[in-house]
Amino acid sequence: MKMKKILTLALALGALAACGQGNGENAISEIREIKPVEIKENPIELFDRKWALVTAGVPGEVNTMTISWGSLGELWGRPVVTVYVSSSRYTHDFMEKNGNFTVTFFPEEQRGTLQYLGSHSGRDGDKIAESGLTLEWLESGLPSFEEADMIIEARKIYGAPFDGSGFGDVPSRLYASGRMGVHSVYVGEIEHVWVRGREGE
Ligand SMILES: Cc1cc2nc3c(=O)[nH]c(=O)nc-3n(C[C@H](O)[C@H](O)[C@H](O)COP(=O)(O)O)c2cc1C
Repeated sequence: MKMKKILTLALALGALAACGQGNGENAISEIREIKPVEIKENPIELFDRKWALVTAGVPGEVNTMTISWGSLGELWGRPVVTVYVSSSRYTHDFMEKNGNFTVTFFPEEQRGTLQYLGSHSGRDGDKIAESGLTLEWLESGLPSFEEADMIIEARKIYGAPFDGSGFGDVPSRLYASGRMGVHSVYVGEIEHVWVRGREGE
């Protein structure tokens, strides 16, 4: 009878351990590189629905902000990520000063964090520390976050404010009030894409 109890306990523990591995709890997998063409998510879904952070800088002088305007594609024979940063953002200074930037995507549980980083300015304090995200420095020296599930490293190959003379009806209306600073377009050649998921994904 005693033996039967021990066996039942061992089986239960085994099942729990297997369950922990299977559903990914405490089983964050290592970061791994994929090719830009292997990004399987819809880019509109990624930016418009999931949102992202665009981050630029060096240790001690780095800033990030939430973006939902962005695209992934090809330009000048290269895979590119394009982001649009208003001249009124503190991040704009960092995009101007630095030759590289990252675009990072996060699991849904970080939605509140992205909301925070998209409604507070790095001019007013250390918003990265306040956000609770963990800044990490990639091998390339670029800033990223431990909590990100996809990291795009980009080398800036174009950066300039929109030329208003080309605006059609939608941007003309948007910028008419003058309340929103004109956005600069930053096209980054994608140098690396890293994904970090739970095991089994
Ligand atoms: C969901 C969301 C999406 C945003 N997308 C953009 C964007 O694409 N471009 C932009 O210039 N600002 C965007 N913002 C606004 C900036 O993230 C926000 O102004 C931020 O506080 C700027 O921070 P900074 O001054 O530290 O750069 C977005 C904000 C949110 C909440």
